[in-house]
Amino acid sequence: MKIKRLAKQLLISLFVVSVSVSVWPSLALTVEPEPDVPFVPTPMSVVMEMLKIAGVDKDDVVYDIGSGDGRIPIAAVSAFGAKKGVGIEIQTKLVELSRQKAMKEGVADRVEFIARDLFLVPIHEATVVTLYMGYEMNIRIRPKLFKELKPGTLIVSHDFGMGEWRQDSTYTVRGDHREHTIYYWVIPANVAGTWKWNANIKGKQKQFVLNAKQQFQEVTATLTVNNKEVTLNEVRLLGKKLTISGSMPDGQVLKFQGEAVSDAIAGTMEIAGASHRWTAKRHAVGVVIH
Ligand SMILES: C[S@@+](CC[C@H](N)C(=O)[O-])C[C@H]1O[C@@H](n2cnc3c(N)ncnc32)[C@H](O)[C@@H]1O
Repeated sequence: MKIKRLAKQLLISLFVVSVSVSVWPSLALTVEPEPDVPFVPTPMSVVMEMLKIAGVDKDDVVYDIGSGDGRIPIAAVSAFGAKKGVGIEIQTKLVELSRQKAMKEGVADRVEFIARDLFLVPIHEATVVTLYMGYEMNIRIRPKLFKELKPGTLIVSHDFGMGEWRQDSTYTVRGDHREHTIYYWVIPANVAGTWKWNANIKGKQKQFVLNAKQQFQEVTATLTVNNKEVTLNEVRLLGKKLTISGSMPDGQVLKFQGEAVSDAIAGTMEIAGASHRWTAKRHAVGVVIH
């Protein structure tokens, strides 16, 4: 009697084990993660404006993060001649639809759709990133953009900003039923720290020292020339391009324009109406807050 009961129990447990082994793994493979936001397409007229604002051309690799039915990467390649379009989309059905659309448009060889959670996909090769993900998702995605994208990469977001990261430009475009806001940023270079350079101005050697603090693309700085403080009127960073203007205590006007690439800034400076080349080297690296 006892043996019979034990055998029955064993059979039941074996059945339970085999069911969980055979059913759960396949369930784990088929259950899709939930999207963080639903699929709501950007109207095609707005897609075209977004890509125009980004100035997409043959050198661009355009990533749409949360790419829905693939309309943005496909339009980037087919209408703007982008080198490559990439869509990252968590819903596999939408990825399949995107691939079919790309085939129909004859651009399947230049677009790629990745069926994965956007937070798991590297995006460093992008030169342009497009978003229509809502404000909260934009805030969650922001650190990834700063961590992975090269200075100078453009971000264009449909209808939603990025909180403390103020946009570099805002555009209003007319859609089919309403006006849409397009937010535009350029990933800023890191110019935080102490920079030094020398220049011969009217036969006299001058040493320039710039101390810069940076939060996102906002730069606050002090500049001295041979230890004399310059009153700064403007310090502006757009991607890699740094513009500084100010005046010496004697009223002499100074203007610097340069491109920041890792630990050097090179460009032209205008002092008292004459133009000079300048190349600054970073002597102490600062931390960019974002
Ligand atoms: C508002 S739609 C935008 C679609 C497209 N970018 C456009 O502008 O037409 C957002 C898309 O993001 C996808 N999505 C949501 N969370 C995601 C995640 N964590 N990873 C990848 N895609 C996601 C959704 O499935 C949806 O298709």
